[in-house]
Amino acid sequence: MKIALLGYGKMGHMIEVEAKKKGFEISATIDSYAKDASHFISSPADIVAALQETKSEVVIDFSHPDAAFENIKAIIPLGIPLVVGTTGWLSHLSEVQDLVAKHSSSLFYAANFSIGVNLFYKVVAEAAKVFSSYDDYDVALWEAHHNQKADSPSGTALELAKLVLKNHSGKTEMHFDAFHEKPKAHQLHVSSTRCGSVPGTHTVFFDSNADSIELLHRARSREGFALGAVHAASWLFDGLKKGSVQKGRVYTMEDMLS
Ligand SMILES: NC(=O)c1ccc[n+]([C@@H]2O[C@H](COP(=O)([O-])OP(=O)(O)OC[C@H]3O[C@@H](n4cnc5c(N)ncnc54)[C@H](O)[C@@H]3O)[C@@H](O)[C@H]2O)c1
Repeated sequence: MKIALLGYGKMGHMIEVEAKKKGFEISATIDSYAKDASHFISSPADIVAALQETKSEVVIDFSHPDAAFENIKAIIPLGIPLVVGTTGWLSHLSEVQDLVAKHSSSLFYAANFSIGVNLFYKVVAEAAKVFSSYDDYDVALWEAHHNQKADSPSGTALELAKLVLKNHSGKTEMHFDAFHEKPKAHQLHVSSTRCGSVPGTHTVFFDSNADSIELLHRARSREGFALGAVHAASWLFDGLKKGSVQKGRVYTMEDMLS
């Protein structure tokens, strides 16, 4: 599989390492600023030309939110399977789905490519369902990230909170701020800590008078995202060849891990 990396920053470099470990070829590294990229370009037309010239078979995009949608629109008509990790374009998802269908192309996207986090989502959804039948147990979420992170709660914590609300009948509202009165039983408390260099820790607590059950996901590095993106590229590429993945569709981690 010949992979073109669109965006050769922190994630692009890490994906290159993980892809090479698995024996895949990097056909192009495309970046508008990174001097060590094989293609030092940024216009969608130049990117299309580079993908054709290098006979790339899959594109993995970890570039910039501002460029993502224009690049996606330009690449889809080529029919090259496209894996998108860049964030910030999902408001255009239905337009992208229409384009993928129109050109019988294929696209895979995820806001979080970590396989571990996506499996953790499944565990938490199931646990919330199980504990939902037992009134003695309350549930809450806590997340911690490094002190350079500008937002809270994390996107992953929000996703976890949505899963708890969906699967736990006793919780109907998320609460992110400090409490100035006793929490209401239907409120799901989601709290955040920002400290040092923590790459990302998420804990779901189920607590009763008698005991406490804690489900924890702790990221060690960005490696998990890179591994997940390479896994997705190979799942898409092989699936299209074997016929287990259809053309004309947009796929997510849910499809790959089901
Ligand atoms: N989905 C996930 O699991 C996941 C994980 C980590 C990061 N991300 C997202 O991936 C993106 C990149 O993250 P990063 O940490 O590698 O950032 P980064 O800043 O280290 O790298 C981005 C690279 O894209 C390049 N770039 C910018 N505009 C471009 C354009 N028009 N064409 C080509 N290259 C362009 C930049 O020069 C830079 O080298 C961000 O949107 C980030 O939020 C997603």
